[in-house]
Amino acid sequence: MNILLTGGLGFIGSHTATVLADYGHHVVIIDNLYNSQKETLNSLRSITGKVLPFYEGDVRDLPLLKRILKEEQIECVIHFAGLKSVAQSQTNPLEYFDNNVGGSIALLEAMQAINIKKLIFSSSATVYGAPQYLPYDEAHPLQPINVYGRTKLQVEEILQDLSQSDDAWSIVCLRYFNPIGAHNCGLIGERPQGIPNNLMPYLCQVASGQLPHLNIFGDDYDTKDGTGERDYIHVMDLAEGHAAALALMNRQTGFEAINLGTGNPVSVYELVHAFERSIQRTIPRIVQKRRSGDLPIYYAKVDKASRLLNWRAQRDLQAMCDSSWKYEQKIRAVL
Ligand code: NAD
Ligand code: UFG
Repeated sequence: MNILLTGGLGFIGSHTATVLADYGHHVVIIDNLYNSQKETLNSLRSITGKVLPFYEGDVRDLPLLKRILKEEQIECVIHFAGLKSVAQSQTNPLEYFDNNVGGSIALLEAMQAINIKKLIFSSSATVYGAPQYLPYDEAHPLQPINVYGRTKLQVEEILQDLSQSDDAWSIVCLRYFNPIGAHNCGLIGERPQGIPNNLMPYLCQVASGQLPHLNIFGDDYDTKDGTGERDYIHVMDLAEGHAAALALMNRQTGFEAINLGTGNPVSVYELVHAFERSIQRTIPRIVQKRRSGDLPIYYAKVDKASRLLNWRAQRDLQAMCDSSWKYEQKIRAVL
């Protein structure tokens, strides 16, 4: 299949590109490099042995999108492009609605104009909001507690309306839980700009000496050891979930929202201990007060993914930590 990945040089998009290329798909990428580097293309070439066509551009550029869809004879789009910082979304909501919602509308207009009606959208567990029960299943009420989550929910609603207006559309919203880890070869991974907000990239930078210690945001939650619990999923498992969603779209039309997680809640301390096994040292850490806006615990019910996609996460927490650390060491060696 000829597949366009928007945001395909980013963390999840680049790993998905390797899996799809392995399956023999023709992968084309558009990215505006807002949160990624062009050198990732060289890494993708080394990993896949293929030169992936790349367009440096913005998904809000309608004429460019139409041209790519036509010239590359695209049959399906996976829409990763977007902004993902919860904190920045709160201070700059217009930028987030413009990019995440406006970008999606432009993409859909271009697809409709060229008559391409297969789409996978990168949604997030954030759309659920405070858990009314756990694990979250896909029928859980959708009440996001931050602007970022509301941009994702708005796009999901647009996609649902679109699929109801025209039953030729086949749309899958994948609600990712907490992707971490990296490709086994260590050539691609997560590379946030500035001081990381998320736990795994922060841990990596403490381990490589960029940051002095880890801050643990609260050890007084009503959880197994007092720290926050999340459903961490290996980014390569997540990438394979996209390949499985492509197969589903070839079997059915309509709209589906599907959780991609492992179904296992893991605490901050559990992740830190696994990471310490990877680096064979202890991580200096200081317990701080709770981070504002954090939920104590959430994790996925994964039955729908298993039933519809015939997919389950395969890799364990140690593999997530080992591969994250391998990538961190590779990038520190070249910087
Ligand atoms: P990322 O920032 O690494 O990748 C996103 C890519 O999109 C970047 O390469 C960026 O340069 C590009 N981009 C942003 N706006 C663009 C635009 N207007 N036009 C073209 N390119 C643009 O993020 P990621 O972690 O790979 O996330 C991919 C998607 O998954 C995002 O939509 C994100 O919201 C969603 N998601 C991520 C997580 C997570 O924890 N990483 C969790 C849930 C959902
Ligand atoms: N944490 C720390 N110290 C840190 C960073 C995080 O103790 O330096 C804790 C948090 O308090 C939380 C856990 O580690 O308990 C995970 O925090 P992350 O920031 O890694 O991840 P979040 O679950 O807060 O959010 C992430 C993304 C969101 C996305 C969501 C999907 O940031 O964009 O996962 O579930 F929507």
